[in-house]
Amino acid sequence: MLQTIPSIQDFKQKIRSFKYNHLTIGFVPTMGALHEGHLSLVRQAKREHNKVVVSIFVNPLQFGVNEDFQKYPRTFERDCELLSKEGVDIVFCPDREEMYPPGFCTAVIINNLEDKLCGKSRPGHFRGVAVAVLKLLNLAQPDNAYFGQKDFQQTVVIKRLVSDLHLDVRIKALPTVRTEEGLALSSRNTYLSELEKKDALCLYKALVKARSMADSGIINVKKVIQEMENIICGYASATIDYISIVNAETLESVTSIEKGDVAVLAVRIGKTRLIDNMLL
Ligand code: PAF
Repeated sequence: MLQTIPSIQDFKQKIRSFKYNHLTIGFVPTMGALHEGHLSLVRQAKREHNKVVVSIFVNPLQFGVNEDFQKYPRTFERDCELLSKEGVDIVFCPDREEMYPPGFCTAVIINNLEDKLCGKSRPGHFRGVAVAVLKLLNLAQPDNAYFGQKDFQQTVVIKRLVSDLHLDVRIKALPTVRTEEGLALSSRNTYLSELEKKDALCLYKALVKARSMADSGIINVKKVIQEMENIICGYASATIDYISIVNAETLESVTSIEKGDVAVLAVRIGKTRLIDNMLL
């Protein structure tokens, strides 16, 4: 039976009882508005653990002032139905005051990683992610925590955080789930009109192009990015935020492609900012 727990104190007590009974815990932190991408994480967590905990918390600290915190989709009832069908044990769903009571002022800074790529157009975003994830990991005490590869920079930042602070948890980044046509699933896809959904395929098309160029032995990053730009510029509603090919750990841009580098991009489709990436 799925149990929803909004209180930190109750959640801690539940986790303590799991630990006391030597049960392993798989944890999937989310902001709700769940889709098949989230559910793939939940299923993997379920296969690998005695207990599965999902958090649903739309974290205000990771949204910029002009971003979509207010309008971010909130579908709590439906999320719980989906999670219940998947056999999830606990949904931890604190409200803002529970997570950040008056006086809260601790920050987590991820030097070198937080200002690159998405961090440039979303200043403060990764600090917000880092502090929320650190709190959630500390509360859930999981054996493994699951994240989607779609938020590639987020997975790099979190792995760094866990390693730097010696947290006792393994971070698993699982493959991006896509529509049949290739659009990476994202809760923000709900903002797209039907026409924009078609245009949004340009991210995937550009990435596939990058991979096929890399596969055919082209290592000149300028050339590859030029081709990716050409593809995206063919779509009326698309504006490029960034396109880069980076080292998978440092997120530094590379000038010639090596195996294991990652093509990353952020593109606005109309007003909606979408991100995607592909391993080369
Ligand atoms: O990927 C997300 O949904 C969020 O960034 C996360 C990891 C739940 C932190 O708020």
